[in-house]
This record gives sequence, structure tokens and C-alpha cells, in this order.
Amino acid sequence: MSLPKRVRIVEVGPRDGLQNEPEVVPTATKIELIERLTDAGLRAIEATAFVSAKWVPQMADNAAVLRGVRRQNGATYAALTPNLQGFDAAIEAGATEVAIFAAASETFSRKNINCSIAESLKRFEPILSAASALEIPVRGYVSCVVGCPYEGAVAPHQAAAVAKTLYAMGCYEVSLGDTIGVGTPASISRLLDACAAAIPVGKLAGHYHDTYGMAIANIHASLQLGLATFDSSVAGLGGCPYAKGASGNVATEDVVYLLDGLGIETGVDLAKLAAVGDWISSALNRPNGARAGRALCAKTP
Ligand code: HMG
Ligand code: MG
Repeated sequence: MSLPKRVRIVEVGPRDGLQNEPEVVPTATKIELIERLTDAGLRAIEATAFVSAKWVPQMADNAAVLRGVRRQNGATYAALTPNLQGFDAAIEAGATEVAIFAAASETFSRKNINCSIAESLKRFEPILSAASALEIPVRGYVSCVVGCPYEGAVAPHQAAAVAKTLYAMGCYEVSLGDTIGVGTPASISRLLDACAAAIPVGKLAGHYHDTYGMAIANIHASLQLGLATFDSSVAGLGGCPYAKGASGNVATEDVVYLLDGLGIETGVDLAKLAAVGDWISSALNRPNGARAGRALCAKTP
């Protein structure tokens, strides 16, 4: 299959990237991060999560973040919503898209959202009807598509079954989460073959964490199988609070560097993005996890 001409990058840094930060990140920093990301050309931003503040304290300022952001024309500002309570609050605060999140592993589902996979899908039904009435697009996530921190290896058909259900329920796209970053091009390709047999490949997105440095190789393998949407996090920020040891998402800078090199359009200005990665890494007082970002910033006088 030939590679796509254009790839859509979903920037999840403000949510997936920051949800696990040990120190409280000021709301103003989160807002500035989102604005800088859209200034660098990103148009799909996962801004925050309307989850329980007891479970994920870092997302407690969700409404203030969404309300405070200067909106960029053509950009979408999405929020994770695990239930109708979260959905209503997200819409009230100005989310223009929501994401529901299920898992391919029962244990992860219980640890992450305190219910079984079947119960979670049931909880998503009222979100999908409310969203449809308001014409709000809903994205679906499947976590642990290759491996689970509690159950080990996950079979491709398990992930494909959940992806198929989310798509059938009305999600416009299903993002496949390698939550703990254990996938390799071989296991990701097996996963994608199983998913593409269940739903159109153009409706799948790759969401790869980079624990073993495999995410860029996994994106390359996915491009060859027809995927054209990938989630990533500026400076490689992040991790999941319910997946101990999982590292951040693949760094957006590295994804843009790969795609630029393949002649695939993203609309993102790599130099500007690298500067954002450098800025947020110093604001959080952590090392910049983006290899391309570090290299580019080192060249800037
Ligand atoms: P629960 O405790 O089972 O919920 O949590 P409950 O319905 O029994 O309610 C208990 C309390 O939570 C009540 O408050 C509710 O009002 C409140 P109380 O009466 O005790 O004061 N509550 C809420 N508060 C705010 N927003 C809400 C909400 N719902 C209930 N939406 C729940 C269930 C799902 C809420 C909880 O388990 C939760 O918030 N989990 C957070 C999970 C999470 O954010 N995980 C990280 C994101 S997922 C991820 O990172 C993976 C991904 O990146 C893909 C990948 O990499 O694989 C997407
Ligand atoms: Mg994730």
C-alpha cells in the first residue's frame, strides 16, 4: 500500500502528557501550552479530561483550561469523558469534541475506570446519543491493545472486538492505545490486520506510548498498512496513572520529523514545535523526551 499524502496528528500532550505529572501544573501553563501548540500548526488538540479529580487530580482544572484557551480557527479541542456527567461538564466548558475510552483488558478497565469492559460500553451509550443530538464528534479509545500491565499479552482479536463495538456505536474514529508501549512493528501489524478486518482502516488511529523506543517504528509500520492518524505528545510527555512504568506517548516532534522525511504533510512547523517542547520541558523541570526536538533546539543559537 502506498503511504498517505497527509497525516492528521492528534496532540494529546495537554491531557495524556500532563495527567501523570507529579507536581500540580498551573492552569495558565496548560492554557499557554495549548495555544503554543496550535500556533505551531497542530489542529487536533486533546485539551483535558472530565474525570474524577479524586482519581486524576492533575485534570481537576479541566473547565478552566477549556474556558481559558484562545481558540484557533479550524482547531478542535477535545476532552476525555468517561460518563454522561463528564460529557455534560465538558460541553458546558466548551469542548468541541469528546473521547470515550474503553480497554481490551478486563483488569485494566477495572483499574482505570472502575467497571468491566461491558459496563463501560453501556455507560458510553448515553454519551453517544447526547453527542449526536448536539453534533459533537466522539472519538473512541481502546487501551492495552497489545499488552496490559496486569494481564500481560493481549490477543489482537480482543482489541479488534472492542474497536468494532465503539465504531458500531457511533465513534467517528477509534484510536488504538498501546498504553504501556510494548508493541513492535510485528505485533502492531497483527493488531492492525485484525482491526482492519472489523472496521475501515481509515477510521483507525495509532496511539503509541514509547516505553521501548518502538513507537516511531510502529508508526512507520502502521503507515504502510494505511493508517493516516496518529496521537502524540509534545516532548514525549506523559504516561498513564493506571499503568505503572509506562512512559510517555511518542513525541510529536519525532513524528513530524519522520513524516517530513517521508514527504508526508502534517501542517506542523517542526522548528516552532521543537521550541514548544523545549519550553514545556523547562516549565515542568523535566528532560525533553523528543529526540528531534532536542537536536533542533541545540542548533538554535
Ligand atoms: P467511580 O468512583 O466508579 O464513579 O469512578 P462513581 O460514578 O461511583 O462516582 C464516584 C464519585 O466520582 C462521585 O463523587 C461522582 O460525582 C464522581 P462523590 O459523590 O464521591 O463526591 N464522578 C465524577 N467526577 C468528575 N467527573 C466525572 C465523574 N464521574 C463520577 N466524570 C470514574 C468512575 C470513571 C469517574 C473514575 O474511575 C475516573 O475518573 N477514572 C479516571 C480514569 C482516567 O482518567 N485515566 C487516565 C486516562 S485513560 C488513558 O490515559 C489511556 C489513553 O491515553 C489511551 C492509552 O494510552 O491506552 C486514553
Ligand atoms: Mg495514552
